[in-house]
Amino acid sequence: MKVMKNVFFTALATVISFFGIKKMTSTTHKMKRIGHRGAAGYCPENTFPSYDRAIEMGADYLEIDVQLSKDGKIVVIHDSLVDRTTDHKGKVSDFTFDELRKMDAGSWFSQKFRGACIPSFAEVLDKYADRVGLLIELKKPALYPGIEKMIAEELKKRNFHTKGDDHIIVQSFETESMKRFHELVPEIPVAILINYPPDTVEIKNIAKYASYLNPKWTVVNKRVIDLIHSNGMKAIAWTVRSRKEAEKLKHYPLDGIVADYLDLIE
Ligand code: G3P
Ligand code: CA
Repeated sequence: MKVMKNVFFTALATVISFFGIKKMTSTTHKMKRIGHRGAAGYCPENTFPSYDRAIEMGADYLEIDVQLSKDGKIVVIHDSLVDRTTDHKGKVSDFTFDELRKMDAGSWFSQKFRGACIPSFAEVLDKYADRVGLLIELKKPALYPGIEKMIAEELKKRNFHTKGDDHIIVQSFETESMKRFHELVPEIPVAILINYPPDTVEIKNIAKYASYLNPKWTVVNKRVIDLIHSNGMKAIAWTVRSRKEAEKLKHYPLDGIVADYLDLIE
């Protein structure tokens, strides 16, 4: 199905460029505003207050990062260590969910958020996925064999594979992991994250299974965005943390921007 879609998009891009018509993606699509780890500029990342704040700020999507606890529960935390964002030290995978749950994931950011906890993936799905899109990043999936199947099952259990409209997008830097996820649930779009300028061959290979190729903001330029679009994929740039970065990105026909400060991309 993805191959047919790519053939269609390549043909369409050729016709469009032949007639010198501006690409449709630059004029007709709505640019998604995506709250990075919730509203990471204003609240402790990947916590309920952070997600609530992002929604208050009008986010179209929440970006979240997932890892696995010792007892095999999917938890929402960016680092594979708890050191930076909690009052404990050690690997996420060395703690059970109950142990992780008791950690304070708010005070490191500000005393105002003392007691904010590490959410489970299931809680985030149940609390937010009806209200806002989710951009789910599999962090270091190679550390957690089978995590793709676990994520797929949580999503399918809630019928998100039938919802369409890219309401849920699953992304990773790791291509093998995203290929696996695409095979498990082809209805849910996957994205590959890149932090270097990709070449044409690499883009074509990624387009065989991915619906998005999401470049770091530093990598964004017209050539890269045109290549992504002409290969039938969409592009979400990450992560805006300053006015200067937001200013640069507004000149490109991006399909979405991930930001710590959503007010910078209004
Ligand atoms: O959404 C992309 C972005 O979150 C990737 O970088 O380190 O913030 O997870 P990182
Ligand atoms: Ca992330």
